Amino acid sequence: MTGPDVAFWQQRFDDGQLPWDRGRSSPQLAVWLADGTLSPPSRVAVPGCGSGHEVETLARAGFVVTALDYAPGAVALTRERLAAAALRADIHQADVLQWQPPQPLDAVYEQTCLCALHPDHWTAYAATLRSWLRPGGRLALLAMQARRDSAAEGQIEGPPYHVDVNALRALFTGTHWDWPKPPYAAVPHPSLDWAELALVLTRR
Ligand SMILES: C[S@@+](CC[C@H](N)C(=O)[O-])C[C@H]1O[C@@H](n2cnc3c(N)ncnc32)[C@H](O)[C@@H]1O
Repeated sequence: MTGPDVAFWQQRFDDGQLPWDRGRSSPQLAVWLADGTLSPPSRVAVPGCGSGHEVETLARAGFVVTALDYAPGAVALTRERLAAAALRADIHQADVLQWQPPQPLDAVYEQTCLCALHPDHWTAYAATLRSWLRPGGRLALLAMQARRDSAAEGQIEGPPYHVDVNALRALFTGTHWDWPKPPYAAVPHPSLDWAELALVLTRR
């Protein structure tokens, strides 16, 4: 597999080195819940859930949540978090490139899992996300804007890999997805120098 593998991610959890982790749920999820972009009760998956802050928020809001991560450390933290809050979610140790839901989902909350995958896997991952959703289902994306100067010389660096909006458009084409009009919110990250581009696509 090109790029980071499960051992790479598990090492981050073993070392407690989780620079992407805000220590709380993303403020953008609160926005999408408040304005009804994501509304319960509906089935939502959280691929690459990390330590599970957003899984907890979605479960608390009344969603039927499936959390996925292939690092055992992420799964353990998410399970502990949900148990401590006495909330329920289906939490699976699974590769997002392999997993399939038992029935189509209403929504996917994709917070920086795409940027965790080497770009070689993006086309397959985008097709997989589409296959999870029912027609009309929503893909809430937080795409890491991690452009580095070395990109001008053709270097591919990551994770996080830079998820440019043009790449997003190529992966989630206008033929298969309804796109909102820009501009989109850029959600700053408190401990990284980058921001996440926030947009919600609707599966046609
Ligand atoms: C940058 S972290 C983001 C975690 C969380 N979404 C957040 O924003 O706090 C990426 C997560 O995706 C997981 N991951 C990466 N590749 C994966 C794959 N192929 N299948 C499942 N999980 C994966 C990693 O283990 C890690 O927990």
